[in-house]
Amino acid sequence: MNNKERDEKFFGRGNPSMDLEVVKAEGSYVYGANGKKYVDFLGGAGVGNLGWNVKEIEDAIRKSQRPAYVYPNFYYGKWAELAEILADLAPGNLQKSYRMTGGSEAVEAALEMATLNTGRSKILSVEGSYHGNTLGALSIGASKKNKKFPNLLQGCEKIDLPLNKSRLPEVERLLSGKDVAAIIMEPVIINLGVVIPEAEFMAGLSEICKKTGTLLIMDEAITGFGRTGKMFASEHFNIQSDILCMAKAITAGHAPMGAVITTNEIDKKVGEEIGLYSSYGWHPIAVDASLAALNFLKTNREMLFGNIEAIAEYFKKAISEVNFKKEPEVRILGAAIGIELHDEDYASQIKDKALKEGLLMNTEGSALLFLPNFQMTKDTIQEGINLLKKAV
Ligand SMILES: Cc1ncc(COP(=O)(O)O)c(C=O)c1O
Repeated sequence: MNNKERDEKFFGRGNPSMDLEVVKAEGSYVYGANGKKYVDFLGGAGVGNLGWNVKEIEDAIRKSQRPAYVYPNFYYGKWAELAEILADLAPGNLQKSYRMTGGSEAVEAALEMATLNTGRSKILSVEGSYHGNTLGALSIGASKKNKKFPNLLQGCEKIDLPLNKSRLPEVERLLSGKDVAAIIMEPVIINLGVVIPEAEFMAGLSEICKKTGTLLIMDEAITGFGRTGKMFASEHFNIQSDILCMAKAITAGHAPMGAVITTNEIDKKVGEEIGLYSSYGWHPIAVDASLAALNFLKTNREMLFGNIEAIAEYFKKAISEVNFKKEPEVRILGAAIGIELHDEDYASQIKDKALKEGLLMNTEGSALLFLPNFQMTKDTIQEGINLLKKAV
């Protein structure tokens, strides 16, 4: 049996795999068992913000000493060290971090925190959004239009796109009963192909939340750690979130990890009532990986954020030279790039053809989604765009 046959027989997956068996990844490239080198515009769906196998990060992880395991109710110096870094990087007065193993768990914890703190159970989310694979996350992601999974959290309502000023009266109506615990959303919705809410919508939303005692949860699983050109995408708006979810790029791909960070005020109730124990949350290997990745991000902050601006500009120009069958709507914020083609089949055909040409990308509905790493050079971007042109 070869690996593909073994995969089909024993390995559970929701979606069919892409036709690529990975043997190596380095910088902006992924290498297949077929001997082919792929330009990586996919970036592990938002995990690989710094590029693959960054030597400084790998060396730091290799050199660090650690116990095999630390029981969650012990002290561990590196937990406090990492939590302090997250509080420093996070916007506003978010200060207390909880240990999670990934993004879905961070979302669940955020929902629990909001429910406990408000004594309310309803949650508001954005229509069509994605927040992970656990029951709560799937429920808030459950769509009015696409009923693949039922909403098991009763009374969860949806805000429809577009997220502009005209949507605010609807939000006000939904929150007026003061029975909604929280609104959860990605501040820039990568999972809908980089949908950027209008600043007036976000300001109004934050105002209505304050007025009605509804908490604001920012799910920054993908947008966190620089993706949109700010450390956290909520910083693009004049808002203060109450709870913020982190995952994916928190270790730049070297180990699984998530975190949920909140204010001291909200934290008190969590500590008293649920504790959020996690056996493998912030495992020592993951903590070393996260410290290495975040220290790299902090040390090279100026260079990396400068690159993100240049990457945005370069993609904007290069994409305008691709002959799509209809003029696309290009949505770019930092290194988050969505190309809305308004045709789901067309988008998925381009993704499949690009893979054959040697270019990796994602699609979200009818949009192409590129999440390049922050060290990608102009030459590599152009190489990828040339492959995209062939695929188109
Ligand atoms: C916005 C958002 N939240 C949560 C998750 C779930 O994260 P994980 O796959 O680490 O459970 C994802 C994953 O894609 C995500 O994009």
